[in-house]
Amino acid sequence: MMDKKEKENKLMEIAEYNQLKVLKGMQDNKVSDIHFAATTGYGYNDLGRDTLEDVYASVFHAESALVRPQLISGTHALTIALSGNLRPGDEILSPVGKPYDTLEEVIGIRDSVGSLKEFGITYSQVDLLPNGDFDFENIKKAINERTKLIEIQRSKGYATRPTLSVKRIGELISFIKSIKPDVICMVDNCYGEFVDTIEPSDVGADIMARSSDVGREVVDIIQGVMMFLIAADALLRGWRQRLIVKAAKAEEMEAAQK
Ligand SMILES: Cc1ncc(COP(=O)(O)O)c(C=O)c1O
Repeated sequence: MMDKKEKENKLMEIAEYNQLKVLKGMQDNKVSDIHFAATTGYGYNDLGRDTLEDVYASVFHAESALVRPQLISGTHALTIALSGNLRPGDEILSPVGKPYDTLEEVIGIRDSVGSLKEFGITYSQVDLLPNGDFDFENIKKAINERTKLIEIQRSKGYATRPTLSVKRIGELISFIKSIKPDVICMVDNCYGEFVDTIEPSDVGADIMARSSDVGREVVDIIQGVMMFLIAADALLRGWRQRLIVKAAKAEEMEAAQK
């Protein structure tokens, strides 16, 4: 059991590691002042937006990312991920119990107009065992030829179960993929990102969706750090310039003394 100080140190270590991860993502994608310039407003070829999405993809070690202010909430992001991948006749399986409350109407667990259920998409669920373990036996039984997407909620939402660690999510994904390799494993990562040094996308998740409010904070941090780097760069260039001038003057004086 860690004491308060050890816990604090651990959290600081994780925060610092993730800060470096974000900085590396910006360096790898060559973020510069041009990405903060205005665009035409048409929404095409928006270099700043495209690069921001590339930074996210790098940070989360993903193939690509969709980071848009038009996605107004976690529920919205999750809905897009679900409706974009599911077709009539497909089934969603949640192997970690009931999903977050707002998804009940999206999926149709609670009847609602425009739910996935109305479009012929079915839902099944396997609860966690009383001790919190995954019910591997019943998960195996629940996966069938129609199972297209597995919904794994990382944090507890309004449930009383503990948040799932990324390591446990990885074990669950490996088990599921060993039964059906082509099934889409989607993680509801709302409030999960950056609380650990690894993310579900590092342990086999095909899709990760999360709340945009947290995303906006990250965008603010990225922009803040960017402005700092640009200012620091200008400062260093200034110093370098002054050093060059000083060196040139010293050479001149030396030559005059000869
Ligand atoms: C696990 C989980 N999923 C989904 C959501 C929905 O996110 P939002 O409230 O941004 O729609 C939340 C919000 O707290 C959540 O905790």
